[in-house]
Parts: sequence; structure tokens; C-alpha cells
Amino acid sequence: MVEVVMAPCSPVECETAVVIDVLRATSTIVTALSNGASGVIPVKTIEEALEKRKEGVLICGERNAQRPEGFDLGNSPLEYRKEKISGKTIVLTTTNGTQVIEKIRSEETVAASFLNLSAVVEYLKNKESIVLVCAGTNGRFSLEDFLLAGAIVKRLKRDDLEDGAQVAKRYFESVKNKKEEVKRHSSHAKRLISLGFEDDVEFCTTEDLFKTVPVLVNGVFIPKESL
Ligand code: MLT
Repeated sequence: MVEVVMAPCSPVECETAVVIDVLRATSTIVTALSNGASGVIPVKTIEEALEKRKEGVLICGERNAQRPEGFDLGNSPLEYRKEKISGKTIVLTTTNGTQVIEKIRSEETVAASFLNLSAVVEYLKNKESIVLVCAGTNGRFSLEDFLLAGAIVKRLKRDDLEDGAQVAKRYFESVKNKKEEVKRHSSHAKRLISLGFEDDVEFCTTEDLFKTVPVLVNGVFIPKESL
């Protein structure tokens, strides 16, 4: 069975969970691991992140889309360049993306973005029961997360789709230009653009720049290649 849930308010129990926060947390996790970070540790609060400072990690993330005081990097994937992050462990806290991970009770959890779409689909090929968990924005529906969920469902080519997965697939099929759809109609994209992050929206809606699938192992996303 393939299921799609949006901004869940209660725990999601499943075999394989795919966490999706296109703008921008899972795009950042995929970029960081593809550019050589050794792991990404998602944490809920700014305090938890800062407490890990003594472990020699980079403290990263956002609140209200901006880098909090005392943090090394924000939540723009474009900041996660090889020379800054190669070989480093990253501690990441974001408003929605890292919060939704706390709600997942799965046998395995992977992170998806448009940036690693084909690699994620390949990774999911032999998985029986999959829940695509969209982070949403502040507990609300997010167009860009649902669009990526639809892209994944379409590529999986399966018949055992629960209602949300069927609708996500049909929505994806109805969209002619993914970038335009997100830039014009996603509230979170419009907000990021108004704050000067248009390059992030452009980058995060680009397909298959990376082959990395982040897999959560003992609370740390580590890179796997599936292609
Ligand atoms: C989040 O996790 O809430 C988002 O990534 C926010 C953002 O765009 O920085």
C-alpha cells in the first residue's frame, strides 16, 4: 500500500516512511549529504541544537526562514557547499521539516526532495508498505510537498494506492510546469521569494541533481546511493 499524509498531528506508524519538505528541509538534507556531510541530525528545538555545539558539529537551520543567532548555517540548501560542510556532521532544526520527523514511528525513514527524486523512487521499488509524510507548513497543507508526493507515486507505478496517494498522483499529472506551479501557487514559495530566497525555490524544484538517499539510522541521516 502507498499512502500520502499531510502535516500529521498524531504519530504515523508504518514500515517505510518518506519524509518530504521540499521548501526547504529535505532539500537541504539531500544537498548536505550529497556535498559530503557525514551525517545530518534532525532536532526539534534551537536549544537542543546549541547544546550539541561541544560535539564539534555544525549547528544549522531556521526560524521564520532565517538563520537563528549563533548558528553556523541557515536552511538554504545553496549554503551547503562542499568547502563548508565536507566531512562535517550537521545538526539541523527547522520549523516544519525536522518537527514532522519526530512524529514518525517507522521501521525505516528516508528523506525525499525533487533533487533526489529518481534515487528515492529506485530505493522504494521493493518496499511493500510506504507512507509519504508531507511536512506541510505550520500544520497546514503544502502544495509543493503534495506535488512531489504525486511525482513519487506516479513513478512507483503501483495499483495499491490509498485515497491521498491517488489524488496526489492525479494532481501531479495535471501540472504542466512544476517550477511555475510552485512559484505561482505555493504560499510558502511566495513567502520565501518575498524574503529574497527565490534562488532556493528555483533550486529545490530542480529534478535529479543528486543520487543520494538520506536514510535515518539511530537519529542521524546518512547517505545511501540507490542508482
Ligand atoms: C521548514 O522545515 O519549516 C522549512 O524548511 C522552512 C524553510 O523554508 O526554511
